[in-house]
This record gives sequence, C-alpha cells and structure tokens, in this order.
Amino acid sequence: MWDFFATVRHRHSVRQYRQNTPVEAEKLHAILEMATAAPSAGDLQAYHIHVITDETCLQQLSQAAQQQEFIRQAPACLVFSTDPERSSREFGDRGRQLYAIQDATIAASYAQLAAVAAGLASAWVGYFDEKQVRSILDIPEALEPVAMLTLGYPSEIPEPSPRRPLGEMVSRY
Ligand SMILES: Cc1cc2nc3c(=O)[nH]c(=O)nc-3n(C[C@H](O)[C@H](O)[C@H](O)COP(=O)(O)O)c2cc1C
Repeated sequence: MWDFFATVRHRHSVRQYRQNTPVEAEKLHAILEMATAAPSAGDLQAYHIHVITDETCLQQLSQAAQQQEFIRQAPACLVFSTDPERSSREFGDRGRQLYAIQDATIAASYAQLAAVAAGLASAWVGYFDEKQVRSILDIPEALEPVAMLTLGYPSEIPEPSPRRPLGEMVSRY
C-alpha cells in the first residue's frame, strides 16, 4: 500500500492493460466504495456509476468514443453519469448545472486514485458521443454520462506528463 502522495504521483493515464487479466470483483468493489466516499454537495451523491466488463459492451463504448482502442482492450470500464435533478431538488440551478458535475467527477477522481492504490491503472475518457453511450448502456434521460474510466492491470508505464508550474496556476493573497 502506498501513502497518499505516492499514490497520486504514481497515477498516470495508462492505455495498455495486461490482456486476459480481469479486475477482481473485490478490487472493483473497493474502488466503487472509495468513489462513493467522495464528498458531494449536500451529501446527495448526484451521480450514477455503470460498471462494464462485458467485451461486446466495451467494444461499443470504444466506438462511441471515436474508436479509442484502449477502451475495447480494457478489462473494465466505469461510466460516471450526473443526476442533475437529484441535486437541483435541494440546490436549484446551481445543483443542476454545477454540483452534479462536481459530485460525479470528484467520485471519478477518487476511483482513479483507489485504482492505483489497488495496483491497477486507469485512463479518464471524456471524448465520447453522449447519445451513443446512453443508448449502449440504456441510461435513462434523467442521467447524463460525463466521464468514463478504463481500468485494468497496467502493461505500460507511461512517462509522467508535464505539469504547468505552480507559480503560473496559483495566486496567493
Ligand atoms: C476531462 C478529461 C477528459 C479526458 N479525455 C480523454 C480521452 O478522451 N482520451 C484519453 O486518452 N485521455 C483523456 N483524458 C486523459 C488526459 O489526456 C490525461 O489525464 C492528461 O494528458 C494528463 O496525463 P496523466 O493522466 O497521465 O497525468 C482526459 C482527462 C480528463 C480529466
């Protein structure tokens, strides 16, 4: 087990996974638990997570994401959808337009880090056709798919991608 800082430093987008090596059900469960441990506005958890391990379904998701091959090759994929109406019941437009997205994407971030801590790797996929994903997974109109995470055991260790310097991105008052 890595401490938090090491876990964050070891998280890179991994797009090649060990083939024929599924993600164990216990690890998937632990990752989902960590995702739902994320904070959410009013503790409403205005999102839903679809877990996909079916090969045909992964292939269809890959097609819906402009043929990004690694989705098809991943043993698992999590699709995070917002539930804007759930948040709007308490927070109105701000809940609908902002908090639901924050709830869902914070949960996805937690899942990415949990994956690393569990010895797995992931890649965030935001470039996909929402309508196609909705139809593949039969996602109801009330939910909006906003992010996918492919999951699997890494078969590559990517070079860390550069980050902008803190001084450029942080202001102190
Ligand atoms: C909102 C969002 C959308 C992204 N969409 C894609 C995507 O469609 N395909 C992909 O391969 N990576 C995607 N990524 C991953 C980024 O390319 C990656 O996080 C970034 O290059 C930094 O690299 P790192 O994750 O290894 O630190 C996305 C990441 C985020 C946060």
